[in-house]
Amino acid sequence: MKIFSTKKLPGFIYKNLEEKGFEVEVWVNNDEEISSENLIEKCKGVDILISAGYTPLDGETLKAMPSVKMICLYSVGYDHVDLETTKALNIKVTNTPEVLSKATADIAFLLLLATSRKAFYLADTVKQGTWGSFNPTAHLGQELNNKTIGIIGLGKIGYHMAKLCQDAYGMNVIYHNRSPKPEYDKELNAEYVSLETLYQKSDVISLHVDLNPSSYHLIDAKAFEQMKSNVIIVNTSRGDVINQDDLVNALEEKQIWGAGLDVTSPEPLPQDHPLLSYPQVCVLPHIGSATMETRAEMSEIIYQNIIAFSENKPLVTPLY
Ligand code: DGY
Repeated sequence: MKIFSTKKLPGFIYKNLEEKGFEVEVWVNNDEEISSENLIEKCKGVDILISAGYTPLDGETLKAMPSVKMICLYSVGYDHVDLETTKALNIKVTNTPEVLSKATADIAFLLLLATSRKAFYLADTVKQGTWGSFNPTAHLGQELNNKTIGIIGLGKIGYHMAKLCQDAYGMNVIYHNRSPKPEYDKELNAEYVSLETLYQKSDVISLHVDLNPSSYHLIDAKAFEQMKSNVIIVNTSRGDVINQDDLVNALEEKQIWGAGLDVTSPEPLPQDHPLLSYPQVCVLPHIGSATMETRAEMSEIIYQNIIAFSENKPLVTPLY
């Protein structure tokens, strides 16, 4: 079977696949998204596509790669894939859930702490030589002890983030989800609330929802208006869950404290984007799952899925 991989993955996945008789081609450039044209060209005669990165797998692209029978996503998110079309074309799709939950929650926690203390902005003053002398009234952050965190989307990543905040700072956990999660209610002493209540009561709001039509621009001007002025928004899900123009307005109007963002729209954010000018905004380049351990486990899941597919066995992490 022929495999095309849009990025070079860590670990021994290709060597292991070749030893099993697969023919593997890896795209040459790991630092840029492959264009749709190149992807279609490279998928000619390919049975399995390993898709790492976010080149859209829309209906048109999928229909232009008729030999592809399986797509293995090197991500938990699948908002760049038209699943209606993959289903209609009988293409199997897998993702990499669970293994990246702790690493992504770590990044959410890091962004929370960094934003509460304006850490990225202040680190830049050290590099730029504008640190100045001790000033009792400058650079003041806010503490997190006993505050309330509102989790939107209480899956595995949201759970780990809530747990970190509770263990470190005794935070009170409230959450909003498609449906209540009784197992978490008990363990985290968490309370299921409406979105409105979550906006009104939270000192921290951490976003862990999939990007889909109902979560697109979920956090907009109307949402910001309901929030506390000290609230810190953390986003490790997808940039488009927040309306970024409304976020800039909310920061400008001091409606909120700040935001810690591992994801933005677009990615990368242009260097002159207003969001990069606020001391209380910390932005990272989408590194939620970027640890050696997690990325190796993600490669391993893809390997296991491909072997299962080739042996006609149930897939390990099918999307449907
Ligand atoms: C994913 O896997 O979808 C995450 O965004 C990686 O950080």
